[in-house]
Amino acid sequence: MKEKIEAIRQAAANALGSASTQEELEALRVKYLGKKGELTGLLKQLGSVAPEERPKIGQIVNKAKQDLEEAIANHRAVISRAAAEKKLALEAIDITMPAKQKKVGVLHPLNRVLEQMIDIFKSMGFDVVDGPEVETDHYNFECLNVPEDHPARDMQDTFYLADKLLLRTQTSAAQIRTMETRKPPIRVICPGRVFRADEVDATHSPVFHQIEGLVVDKGITMCDLKGVLEQFAKEIYGEDTKVRFRPSFFPFTEPSVEVDVTCSECGGKGCRVCKGDGWIEILGAGMVHPNVLRSCGIDPDEYSGFAFGIGLDRLTTTKYKISDIRLLFENDKRFLEQFD
Ligand code: PHE
Repeated sequence: MKEKIEAIRQAAANALGSASTQEELEALRVKYLGKKGELTGLLKQLGSVAPEERPKIGQIVNKAKQDLEEAIANHRAVISRAAAEKKLALEAIDITMPAKQKKVGVLHPLNRVLEQMIDIFKSMGFDVVDGPEVETDHYNFECLNVPEDHPARDMQDTFYLADKLLLRTQTSAAQIRTMETRKPPIRVICPGRVFRADEVDATHSPVFHQIEGLVVDKGITMCDLKGVLEQFAKEIYGEDTKVRFRPSFFPFTEPSVEVDVTCSECGGKGCRVCKGDGWIEILGAGMVHPNVLRSCGIDPDEYSGFAFGIGLDRLTTTKYKISDIRLLFENDKRFLEQFD
């Protein structure tokens, strides 16, 4: 009996040494310690052992069982630790590796300048308002004192969608919508896209951007207009920038002016950017025509106001010395990335 026990013990120890997975260990446990296992079987055979030997043999078998149970448990721990370490090694992350560069987009130059302009006007107390791109003839022309036979109403200049419905040709339409819904004092700007049936070339596009400005209050004069625009030009182009008003005509302002700034490239001496002139035209402006105030229910004897319309595209091309307006609309990444 003793030899039998020893033989089983030995065989189990050998088998344990070569078991390398949890499955093999489990099979081994069943083989020796399971209900029908070899060591368990020995205990059942104790009956055939001489009575005086029985306790001793019983002890030896139990000890062998216990030892084997312990050895299996230890081996199980070793195997699972090895498996965990292998998994960790496989999944190891080298935290010293450089991270993948994520390319973040940049603001389009038009939006850059627009945001700067909005900041400037907000600091002067202006609100930003929005207006629809599809406008009625009423808001785009009629209320702005543009007579029925004015050439701007021609099909060649304006995109008509239906009778009396068009793509706005100017953000000035927003002036009327504002004055209809707000009471003076009014101080707003309205940036947005405008549309004109122009041929595309280096300085023209059928879609471009304007920023409309409108101030209406008691006692507003041309001096206020000049002060606001001068301050604006200095902040956009630099402290040394000078502003020049030239008489002009718009049906909805009286008097009307076109406003030039000294060329930021040459400071007014004349260069390629300003085509030798020293000045660059950036906007149209004027005192709101009494007819326009009246059509919006504002008494021109009590209130006065000024309006201006800044060409955002022009401002952007001159500020960044961009030679062709088409670059602003083609959205070639090689061009846009330069504004990083
Ligand atoms: N709407 C005019 C244009 O598109 C510009 C302008 C706006 C002029 C406001 C005067 C006042 O040319």
